[in-house]
Amino acid sequence: MKKLRKISSRDLGLEFAAVCGRYFLGLEHLHYGYWPDGLEVNINNLRAAQGNYTNFLVSHIPSGVRTILDVGCGAGQTSKRLIDMGYKVACVSPSPALSSRVRQLLGDEARIFECPFEKLVTDDRFDLVLFSESFQYIRINDAIEKTFELLNPAGHLLICDVFRKDIPLTAGKMTMGGGHRLSKFQRIIAELPFELLQDVDITDQTIPNLDLLDEALQNVVRPMLDSGMDFLTGRYPLTSRLIRLFYRRRINAVYGKYFNGARSGEDFEKFKTYRLFLYRAVPAVPAGV
Ligand SMILES: C[S@@+](CC[C@H](N)C(=O)[O-])C[C@H]1O[C@@H](n2cnc3c(N)ncnc32)[C@H](O)[C@@H]1O
Repeated sequence: MKKLRKISSRDLGLEFAAVCGRYFLGLEHLHYGYWPDGLEVNINNLRAAQGNYTNFLVSHIPSGVRTILDVGCGAGQTSKRLIDMGYKVACVSPSPALSSRVRQLLGDEARIFECPFEKLVTDDRFDLVLFSESFQYIRINDAIEKTFELLNPAGHLLICDVFRKDIPLTAGKMTMGGGHRLSKFQRIIAELPFELLQDVDITDQTIPNLDLLDEALQNVVRPMLDSGMDFLTGRYPLTSRLIRLFYRRRINAVYGKYFNGARSGEDFEKFKTYRLFLYRAVPAVPAGV
């Protein structure tokens, strides 16, 4: 019998997105798409938009970098691209389901550390540590301190991810999760030995993803859930009533979070910013110099 494993709702969401994205849309990546002017926003172009994102990401790898640690490597596609570009790559993947996909894709082309980044123990050191939409899942201090430990002298930290803006309470309630507070991240990293080399705002190029997702939630997921509930109510009224009673809070929370009509690109832009940050570790000055 298959061994049961404990899985967090966050990992479940990522694994579900990976399976559905691949099955229904042929998507291999788990990150947002990058939508330049001229690329029509529709679901059929999502794959191309994700390809654009990867191109954008890899174009910011500084010259001289040879070894890369891809933290939270998803299904391994970015690592594959980096290997094909000639980099020596290692991956960090805490999700067993995603790790097995990565192993299938990369074979022995990359070392895979199957653990959360915070728990990674290795003597290996890297020229660049990459967080592509994985930074938001790790406590800021843990992520930066561990990165510093794993970098070669003057190595680079490359982050491409969602951050939360500081906005007044009067701006309304944010129902979209995800992303560290930008001001907190900037305050923490400013006190650590890292020099900022690039800060690129790609919010405008990523918000179409939110419109597409909101459309899918409203037009596909919600009607499916509603029909399921109607079916249950008609066929098994007592069971349906019990489910509604016992899970009332959870059902309301899901509907309130995902089907509240406040998850569009416009809402995202109000509360979030999507940024690429490139930093260089500043080598410590020896005492007495
Ligand atoms: C949205 S996916 C991004 C995947 C990939 N980097 C990409 O750009 O397509 C988030 C990734 O972060 C990973 N992750 C979540 N928590 C993590 C942690 N504590 N340490 C390392 N990776 C983590 C997930 O397993 C997943 O691979």
